Amino acid sequence: MHKVTISEILALKGKRKITMLTAYDYPIAGLVDRAGLDMILVGDSLANVVLGLDSTTKVGMNEMLHHAKAVTRAVKEALVIGDMPYASYQLNSAESVKNAQRFISEANCQAVKLEWFPDCPKVTEEILKAGIPVMGHIGLTPQTADQLGGFKVQGKDANAARRLIEQAQLLEKLGCFSIVLECVPDKIAQMITQKLKIPTIGIGAGLYCDGQVLVINDMLGLFERYTPKFVKKYVNLSPLILKAIEDFKEEVLQEKFPAPEHTFTIKVDELNKI
Ligand code: KIV
Repeated sequence: MHKVTISEILALKGKRKITMLTAYDYPIAGLVDRAGLDMILVGDSLANVVLGLDSTTKVGMNEMLHHAKAVTRAVKEALVIGDMPYASYQLNSAESVKNAQRFISEANCQAVKLEWFPDCPKVTEEILKAGIPVMGHIGLTPQTADQLGGFKVQGKDANAARRLIEQAQLLEKLGCFSIVLECVPDKIAQMITQKLKIPTIGIGAGLYCDGQVLVINDMLGLFERYTPKFVKKYVNLSPLILKAIEDFKEEVLQEKFPAPEHTFTIKVDELNKI
């Protein structure tokens, strides 16, 4: 058993692709870890795919820590990253550092992730100064999607692409150990990946990134409300789960479950004594 370290993630750039998935609970995190993924993100996508909320801005520190603790209880090897929720790092630096520290000290994560916003460099610097590894996140940043014109591909014209390149370079200079590129044209993701020494992790950013991440409920077919273009469903679990639940219901109604093999018995002579 070997716990993945930040320096190992850095060293993977240019050697092989880096693998990352989200997880929000003990059983799924355990499976992701057993499959040997390099990193697990306890994403604030928790809000949409687990808690049934309509925006990631509606999840807070308490929910994130609750789920991050369940994930780290299961994970032995992968590097676990806590996704800082909306309003946990935008208000002031001291509060941001305190919240980042909670992911490390209370939830046993190894790093935190921050979505880009205008004050992001300052906050990132403060969190890094406190000794906490930071993963950046640029391109489509769901917490501030309204300010980006909605859930749209980012960096589609030369000026917007240049801004993304500058953001990535600044985050690298500040000391981030990697950067998520979300919904960015593949050639822009390639340019950013080539310009940086730290790994880029793409989601809807094409094949040229140093690694890939997906929301686990999307790739398992466990989220039916909508499916972004960049999602590949490796399995469609929802119909399988629905069928199992319907089978249970039918068997209970028809008194087929529990069968003898699921049933505890008592010897007849003991029964007769009662
Ligand atoms: O919250 C999340 O799941 C994320 C990924 C999409 C990178 O931020």
